[in-house]
Amino acid sequence: MVKAITLQSLQDDFKAQNYRDVIQGCKSLLEKETNLLECDLLLASALILSKEYLESKDAYLGIIKKYQQFSSDVYYNLSSAYLNLYNYKDSLFYARQYVNHNTNSLMGYLRLGELYSALGLAGERKMSYMMALSLDPENFAALKGLSETFRVESDSEGALKYLIQQKKTPRRDMNILEAHYKLGNKLLFNNKLLELNKEEVLLPLVACLSAHASVRFSQKDNYKFCPNPFNYIQHLSFSEGELNKNFIEEVISVIEGYNFSYTPQNLLIKGTQTLGPGNIFNLKDNCIIKLKAFIEGRIQEYRNLYKTEDVGFFKKWPNSNDYDLKGWIIDLKTGGSLKRHIHKEGWLSGSLYLRVPEKEKSNEGDIMFSLDGGVYPTDGKFYKDSIVGLTTGDMVLFPSSIFHSTIPFSAKESRITLAFDIIPKYMKE
Ligand SMILES: [Fe+2]
Repeated sequence: MVKAITLQSLQDDFKAQNYRDVIQGCKSLLEKETNLLECDLLLASALILSKEYLESKDAYLGIIKKYQQFSSDVYYNLSSAYLNLYNYKDSLFYARQYVNHNTNSLMGYLRLGELYSALGLAGERKMSYMMALSLDPENFAALKGLSETFRVESDSEGALKYLIQQKKTPRRDMNILEAHYKLGNKLLFNNKLLELNKEEVLLPLVACLSAHASVRFSQKDNYKFCPNPFNYIQHLSFSEGELNKNFIEEVISVIEGYNFSYTPQNLLIKGTQTLGPGNIFNLKDNCIIKLKAFIEGRIQEYRNLYKTEDVGFFKKWPNSNDYDLKGWIIDLKTGGSLKRHIHKEGWLSGSLYLRVPEKEKSNEGDIMFSLDGGVYPTDGKFYKDSIVGLTTGDMVLFPSSIFHSTIPFSAKESRITLAFDIIPKYMKE
């Protein structure tokens, strides 16, 4: 006998996390009874929990249009759906609606902080996390958001104030070390460096700081991550059989089709990037799945090539279950460049150059590696650098601890890069 679908049976299915049944059941019930708010809400929730963000977004928008009254949670959930679609502007619009209805909501202010951060709006980000902290003075996400905001603004005192209130994590420790370094606290810096070198977890930012300090303070670089990162920069060019131009164009058009929020960030000149909480490799399009597998293959080969090296970077390489491969797109326009930076959350970093404009002068649009960057004080010392020449379809793989930058270019065409990192899971904290 076919079971009758009722609101109660759907709620039971929802509690049992049978979201597929809930989605189907809600749709058939709504065909018979069109004005059933609880059913519409169940459907939208089941969709979001099944990661069907596009449909879920439409379902929540439908609720707002269809009903006069509904819970303000609809705004929060709609903001979540947009966030998962990497549409930060619309996500922000509905997060603000939610906070307008819930002026004392911790999760509302944390969401605002996350979105202002993704959109590169430092002042608003700070205010949101301050509000969250006023509601819960020990809230980890708020403390982390604030220390990160001050760090981005190069206010190391401010960053330190919120870092020391956080529980101990690799991220906290490496950022404390960086703050001491920027503030010129040589003794505190070296003591912290000694402490971190005894720990099990190796961190690229600590490696970067240790290398930088070895030049600045004329001291030995004893950190075990990757003392000679220039030795492990790998430049790959592929044949048409391995990675063909039509495939690259397909990837570009699929990504463009999503209309992601491309946001500015302070390292980018005349350029934007997708990032925030987003990951290009979460897209389910065939060409992105193929591209991810291709990149994973090259990473595996890179690792195998150096597997006998007596370097922490290779010896302590995280297991594939213990890291995520995260990718984002950087779009540079004429005159664009990317200032020196490292990927402090990464382990291995890389870039696949989807479109590199013709060079009008030598080295335009190429990548430069260096031991200096991050606006760290150099005390007038000389730091080594090296340039890798690029054309469309090239890939570069390198330890996440080394500074790199893009040399400005003058061509009219935009320069599109898929940047990626292996990010150990402990960096999520
Ligand atoms: Fe980078």
